Amino acid sequence: MSSLYGGTSQRRVTVRDLAAAKESGEKWPMVTAYDAMTARVFDEAGIPVLLVGDSAAMVVYGYDSTLPVTVDDLLPLTAAVVRGSRRALVVADLPFGSYQSSPAQALESAARFMKEAGAHAVKLEGGRRVLPQVEALVSAGVPVMAHLGLTPQSVNALGGYRVQGRGQAGDELMADAKDMERAGAFGVVLECVPADLAARVTTSLSIPTIGIGAGPSTDAQVLVWQDMTGLTPRPARFVKQYADVRAVLDSAVRAFATDVATGAFPGPEHTYS
Ligand code: KIV
Repeated sequence: MSSLYGGTSQRRVTVRDLAAAKESGEKWPMVTAYDAMTARVFDEAGIPVLLVGDSAAMVVYGYDSTLPVTVDDLLPLTAAVVRGSRRALVVADLPFGSYQSSPAQALESAARFMKEAGAHAVKLEGGRRVLPQVEALVSAGVPVMAHLGLTPQSVNALGGYRVQGRGQAGDELMADAKDMERAGAFGVVLECVPADLAARVTTSLSIPTIGIGAGPSTDAQVLVWQDMTGLTPRPARFVKQYADVRAVLDSAVRAFATDVATGAFPGPEHTYS
């Protein structure tokens, strides 16, 4: 099988490919995407999994937390990411309030992402408390990625964005992860947990762990693309900045403004006769 990251296959990556990568010890990257053009860039760079995160609440819609976004807000973004990509597995985040009530509600929301937007999988936050939802989705044929540790939809209950799973809470997180695996989840995001706990969860599970602020031992790593490219003003400590896109955009629009003010743009080459 070709390498998961940057493989040349024209078909979509599947959850079976991710399971095979776990078995062969191949680590892989996941990034967020919210529109067709960036999805295409990331897809052509070989990123095997694109997440249409509910982080769109902040980076697309300008809210302070992930809580306000709805299924209707995220559906068009998900559809755009699916249209913009050819190879990546596209995972849609189920937003706050779209799955917690019941397994039936979770299935209804997931079905909308799959039927109306073409998503290939969904992600939801929580462990045992959403076990019936995960079981219902899996038995309906919906691939599920679970999200444990710092679950931003519970920020008010957690008392802020802080490291999770220290001390005894680590045993609970481990139990949640095992329950998610037993329920049929194909992967587990571990957000903001101590590196040694993430390492233990990773070796205890046969499904991939995807870390964000969880140290180097998880099977995969995920970052929000605006965080890793310098658009987010004050990213968390766990983010590595790989580019300064803010500076590039800033200097481009300033140069455009100057050209407009001085009459240097449009030039003859940009003008129809
Ligand atoms: O919404 C999101 O972008 C996420 C990732 C940070 C894992 O859930």
